[in-house]
Amino acid sequence: MTNKFHSVKPVSEFKLKQVYIETYGCQMNVNDSEVVLSVLKHEGYTLCSKLSDASLILVNTCSIRENAESKIWSRLDYFRSLKRKNRDLRVGILGCMAERLKERLLENGTVDLVAGPDSYRDLPHLLEGLSGGQKQINTLLSQEETYADISPVRMDKNGVSAFISIMRGCNNYCSYCVVPYVRGRERSRTPESIVREAKEVFEKGYREVTLLGQNVNSYKWKDINFPVLLEMVAAISPLLRVRFSTSHPKDMDEAVVRSMLKYENICRHIHLPVQSGSNNMLKQMNRKYTREEYLSKVKMVKTLLPECSISTDIIAGFSGETLEDHLDTLSVMKEVGYYTAFMFQYSERPDTTAAQKLADDVPADVKNSRLNEIIALQNELSHQSNLADVGKEFEVLVEGHSKRSKLELSGRTSQNKMCVFPAAGHKVGDYVRVRIISCSSATLRGEALN
Ligand code: 5AD
Ligand code: SF4
Repeated sequence: MTNKFHSVKPVSEFKLKQVYIETYGCQMNVNDSEVVLSVLKHEGYTLCSKLSDASLILVNTCSIRENAESKIWSRLDYFRSLKRKNRDLRVGILGCMAERLKERLLENGTVDLVAGPDSYRDLPHLLEGLSGGQKQINTLLSQEETYADISPVRMDKNGVSAFISIMRGCNNYCSYCVVPYVRGRERSRTPESIVREAKEVFEKGYREVTLLGQNVNSYKWKDINFPVLLEMVAAISPLLRVRFSTSHPKDMDEAVVRSMLKYENICRHIHLPVQSGSNNMLKQMNRKYTREEYLSKVKMVKTLLPECSISTDIIAGFSGETLEDHLDTLSVMKEVGYYTAFMFQYSERPDTTAAQKLADDVPADVKNSRLNEIIALQNELSHQSNLADVGKEFEVLVEGHSKRSKLELSGRTSQNKMCVFPAAGHKVGDYVRVRIISCSSATLRGEALN
């Protein structure tokens, strides 16, 4: 008998091994969940779409702000009620919160398994231990783990756009941020494994890959840096769009823009988190650039690649933020003219430098009103940015149907703007030339030209 026959399991056992995976937080977590699913599939698990079918619930968590963690705690209350009804149900916490809270998660009573972001290869072993009745935990961080050889099992809904992690961890230690503590040191994945994965998804019919990392511009594998890697992926096919996120302003340079210029299929969009427009705040945040340096990078991008859109992340109400600092943030937003932004109130995270050294001293109502002003301004800027596109033509990669109607398709322009248009015979995965007719602050509306 060969080993193959040993691995054939009775149907009833397969039925027992159904996993439900819930993912919170950033795209990196989404991609990690796909790695986890790949590992579990080898163990005979199948992914189920209903909680009630699951014998194992895995929650891939986020710690970036306090409210991200509170959401998970209330989910755990719910899972506790499910466990009362189904005694065989097991619950595992993965990701950043697992890494941050470690054993403390097991104390809650609902959680059976805790696995940090670098321990997913160990899941088969942990699950085996779990079936022996022991709670399991692995929160070791690694200097090398990139899961380079594990082909993620895609969980996206559209089959058009895939995420590929090119590096893990972060060395920047922005003073407010928990990421370097929960995701460990920065490490890059081999270019060969990245290009192989991008080719694989393209051959499966995907038309867009997003290269992911906390700070993609510091990607480095021997003599291959990020601009070179970007070109290697873009060279796979002109029909494969390439995006990347996130760029740290201190590492974003002309070489990346020059690579973008060489390949039209590298999307004309840069996510360049500014966090604050005030030099004082940037210094306290340990961002390692000034407002002026940031703006000169933006100018460089706009000069070399005028059609490139820029988006950002902003934190309102960081430690010691004065009204003047806040006004600096509003003015930097206007100066750049972001087409979109992710905007947050500062949330103090335990053990970060800011938590240890700086007082979280902006009152909650002030944080809230500053954030609201930032959001209101961004809505205006997004609207202006979209209005400037009315009358222009763009190539849209169709990702699905519009929320409003089956007769309308939706997809993105190279600039990453959402665009809706009447289907006119086109389908998901097509590139369609669209003329923009009207817009809101969130969406472009157009008509297909081909
Ligand atoms: N509070 C609020 N926002 C934060 N971010 C990171 N840490 C915090 C925090 N403690 C934001 C930053 C970052 C984005 C991913 O989350 O803007 O770019
Ligand atoms: Fe956090 Fe800064 Fe690293 Fe981004 S670059 S993950 S904000 S420490």
